[in-house]
Amino acid sequence: MKVSIIGGGGRVGSNAAFALQCAGLVTDIQILDANTDLAEGEALDLLHGASVLGDQRIYAGDYDRAKDSDIFVITAGLRRKPDESRLDLINRNVSLFRGILESIQGAGHKSCAKFFVVSNPVDILTQLAARTLQVDPKQVFGLGTMLDTARFRALIAAELGIATSQVKALILGEHGDTMVPIWSSATAAGLPLKGFPKVNPSFENMIFERTRGSGAEVIRRKGGAGWAVGATIAETIHAVLLDKKQILPVSSVQNGCYGIRDISISVPTIVGKNGVEGHLEVELWPKEKQAMLKSASTLKDTYQKVI
Ligand code: 2OP
Repeated sequence: MKVSIIGGGGRVGSNAAFALQCAGLVTDIQILDANTDLAEGEALDLLHGASVLGDQRIYAGDYDRAKDSDIFVITAGLRRKPDESRLDLINRNVSLFRGILESIQGAGHKSCAKFFVVSNPVDILTQLAARTLQVDPKQVFGLGTMLDTARFRALIAAELGIATSQVKALILGEHGDTMVPIWSSATAAGLPLKGFPKVNPSFENMIFERTRGSGAEVIRRKGGAGWAVGATIAETIHAVLLDKKQILPVSSVQNGCYGIRDISISVPTIVGKNGVEGHLEVELWPKEKQAMLKSASTLKDTYQKVI
């Protein structure tokens, strides 16, 4: 499987490439970036580790070289300026993103190619990609709340002093301020988290606020996320590559799940070789369902403003 990372010269894209290289499952990783020197540099640096990490083809290249990709990962995007509103950033990123879609379409792509959006605002851009590209919407998905879910699980585990891999807890909804913590199905080692001694409403609020603020905290402390977002990008790609039918909180166009339509948002989603293979409307608490609807309407309002 060939993966082309558009924006691969940046921190998110290059960290995703490294996560894919460490896993050694995809056959080709192409790094594509507006800064071609940076793309060449990242590809070379990654290639230098190939003798240790795995036999993959790793190279830089343009949209023409990327047209045989099985998955296009789009991580390119601008960062918010200190005095910039979220909406200003969205407008700037939307025009950059439209240019990327036009370049992909101009060069051509496989009819079965998947389009994996990471750039922010990821739900808005996933919706735009699904509406712009002439492919089945199941071939288009966004990282959504995958990173938020990873953070949520890690922070719960760290606070409880237990193995992170055994904590199963979801964040759904928008990858943004209206994201929704799903405590109703949170478990550790198959046991309901609600039953753990330390877990009470103030614990839950503290963990969720820390999760929701993690993006800004990482930007403040180190300039932006890289390692965890790279790992969640690789996890999503591997679900497609290995046809895992994995249930993941990726973002995709909804057609009725939880009563949500015509906007991309994260719900429990079956991910396999065809991309988005199904949405699962698993029972949530009434307040969680309410929050999902609020998240969806916030995204719809934003989408109407910027498209
Ligand atoms: C984050 O939450 C980059 O949106 C990503 O850190």
